[in-house]
Amino acid sequence: MIVGVVGSGLMGSGIAQACATAGYRTIVQDTDTGQLEKGKAGIIRSLGKLVEKGKLTAVDQATALRWLTFTSDQGALAECNLVIEAIIEDLAIKNRLWAELDRIAPAATIFASNTSSLSIISMAAVTSRPDRFVGLHFFNPVPLMPLVEVVRTVRTSAATLETVFGFVRSLGKEPVAARDTSGFIVNLLLVPYLLDAIRAVERGVASVPDVDTAMRLGAGHPMGPLTLADFVGLDTLARIGDIMFDEYRESRYATPALLRRMVAAGLFGRKSGRGFYDYRQEPPVPEPLGI
Ligand code: 3HC
Repeated sequence: MIVGVVGSGLMGSGIAQACATAGYRTIVQDTDTGQLEKGKAGIIRSLGKLVEKGKLTAVDQATALRWLTFTSDQGALAECNLVIEAIIEDLAIKNRLWAELDRIAPAATIFASNTSSLSIISMAAVTSRPDRFVGLHFFNPVPLMPLVEVVRTVRTSAATLETVFGFVRSLGKEPVAARDTSGFIVNLLLVPYLLDAIRAVERGVASVPDVDTAMRLGAGHPMGPLTLADFVGLDTLARIGDIMFDEYRESRYATPALLRRMVAAGLFGRKSGRGFYDYRQEPPVPEPLGI
């Protein structure tokens, strides 16, 4: 099987790395060549770290890198049996891509979106293959997180589901079946929790580091919610909140004003160097945020 991954951001490059490490020829496509270079560098860094930690051999690292091709040419995806999309959470942009891919890829090719909150059927419907269209939702950091949500729409065929469940297992990851509702399982529960943590800071319940420490040491979470929000990306989190609010109209999904202000200020979290914490120094220090 040849896998195509569209989008070479944090999620796309992580997914491509997981596919290549599992022995799939993997074509990573991104029209932004600067991002493509960044994605490639990220994969090389991540594989290096896994070797350093003894989680991957140097031979497997070299093999994974050989399986990967990076290109800005969408036409290169014509030979893929499975195409996984991991671009921006914007339905109109995704659907333009799907319409183009539907023309390029053979009829048997399965399409999968890594969307975290958009409806899968609203993408499948713009293609000629809604029966071969699923959601495959990976988690950040993809090389370390063992879960993948497999999302079935009202049109996905049983044969497609069987193929993608097998594919996810072949990556060494655990698939769970989810219905095509916004946020699936994890984000349905995780997003309101992260937004509530931001609301707690807004209301002056506690400081950013104290909220994080409380949830790490009091609830046994590997990361506090504000560190996790920075890790997911504050722009991404705000976008997911907006999409989920649109679907459910429940205040728990409403993006808090503080988050909107931070995104407007370019504080996107770890990827931009600043969010709830300033990552330009080690260890990171809390941002003052005027609160
Ligand atoms: N590749 C390779 N190594 C990586 C890596 C990557 N992509 N990302 C992190 N690492 C490394 C770290 O650099 C660190 O190395 P170091 O020790 O040399 O600094 C090492 O892995 C692991 O670090 P730790 O020992 O500090 O931490 P753990 O091993 O206990 O766990 C973690 C790290 C898995 C990231 C853990 O903190 C965790 O589970 N955090 C929560 C993550 C989470 O909730 N993700 C889901 C986000 S939601 C999502 O993705 C959905 C989307 O739709 C929003």
